[in-house]
Amino acid sequence: MTVKIAILSGDGIGPEIVAEAIKVIGCLRKHYGFQVELEEAQIGGAAVDTSGEPLPEATLRLARQADAILLGAVGGPKWETLERRRRPEQGLLAIRSALGLFGNLRPAILYAELAGASTLRPEIVADLDILIVRELTGGIYFGEPRGVRTSGTGEREAYNTLLYRESEIVRIARLAFEIAGKRDARLCSVDKANVLESSGLWREVVTQLSGEYPQVELSHLYVDNAAMQLVRAPKQFDVIVTGNLFGDILSDCAAMLTGSIGMLPSAALDERGKGMYEPVHGSAPDIAGRDVANPLATILSLAMMLRYSLNQAVLAERVESAVRCVLAEGYRTADIHTAGTRRVGTREMGEAVTAA
Ligand code: NAI
Ligand code: MG
Repeated sequence: MTVKIAILSGDGIGPEIVAEAIKVIGCLRKHYGFQVELEEAQIGGAAVDTSGEPLPEATLRLARQADAILLGAVGGPKWETLERRRRPEQGLLAIRSALGLFGNLRPAILYAELAGASTLRPEIVADLDILIVRELTGGIYFGEPRGVRTSGTGEREAYNTLLYRESEIVRIARLAFEIAGKRDARLCSVDKANVLESSGLWREVVTQLSGEYPQVELSHLYVDNAAMQLVRAPKQFDVIVTGNLFGDILSDCAAMLTGSIGMLPSAALDERGKGMYEPVHGSAPDIAGRDVANPLATILSLAMMLRYSLNQAVLAERVESAVRCVLAEGYRTADIHTAGTRRVGTREMGEAVTAA
């Protein structure tokens, strides 16, 4: 059976890093019988430049047809003066909500070879392997009503609504329990149930659902304590599940434990497990077009795609072990600072992974 991957490179360093992931796909096709068809479409700044729209209709159509989507990155100062709905980043928000990509998987993995690149002491973070499951299409980023108004006393005030429906909590928690069951079987749910009603319901629903997953050990933390624990002793966690706003902040915090933005993959899944896969970093306009960007976050996003959407866990492991292998051999792009290593550019790194 041939799978179809939509390739949305975007702008900035997007096309450069995605090109290296495509080399890896070519290798899987040639040597491991991976039957795959790739189709490219524009999103973000590249699409704005040709059509005026950050998410053209044709791109959305391709994304709907494909079995999975590989995205580079979008955005940059070139488009900052455009009205908000025409900016590249709107293309991302629009595709996530059009496809119902509610489940954001954000691993924070620190390969032993890179432990020295973290701002935390190596013994705190070496071999870290945690996964944050963040709700992506609900909560305060989407709640209505929202707005800015003038109050009765003539003062300006602004407001947003933090709303979670039971069904939204159940589906994100179920995804997290399922994934935790395939990992270390420990799930920590993060909320602010001591203050927020929406968190009270969150905790109640997650606790109730845990009855269906007796093999997974469930714990709860308030978000402020979770932030503290993440930098104090991050290896106490396996899988963390949380809402949109808390997940946005905690996942960036967890990401930085690893000290290298160029290494971090992510996934956004819909209810059937179809997903969009992309590096956590942005379009890095400051280094675009110079063959210095780290392509490993994108290559690791491809590995996640193989595991979570394409049912190819063995190929996912091959890609991940190829990445480990090049790190062990000392290959480093400029964003990873460790001593005594071999400095390479984007293309050379992609080729090293492909060779491995
Ligand atoms: P950024 O992640 O693009 O860059 C932050 C810093 O990290 C820069 O110094 C950059 O050179 C470096 N960096 C990022 N990725 C790297 C890689 N693969 N290899 C080596 N170095 C890397 O974040 P920034 O500068 O805040 O945003 C730039 C643009 O990207 C903005 O327009 C922003 O809106 C957009 N953005 C897009 C995202 C996406 O497409 N998912 C996510 C975050 C930001
Ligand atoms: Mg963020």
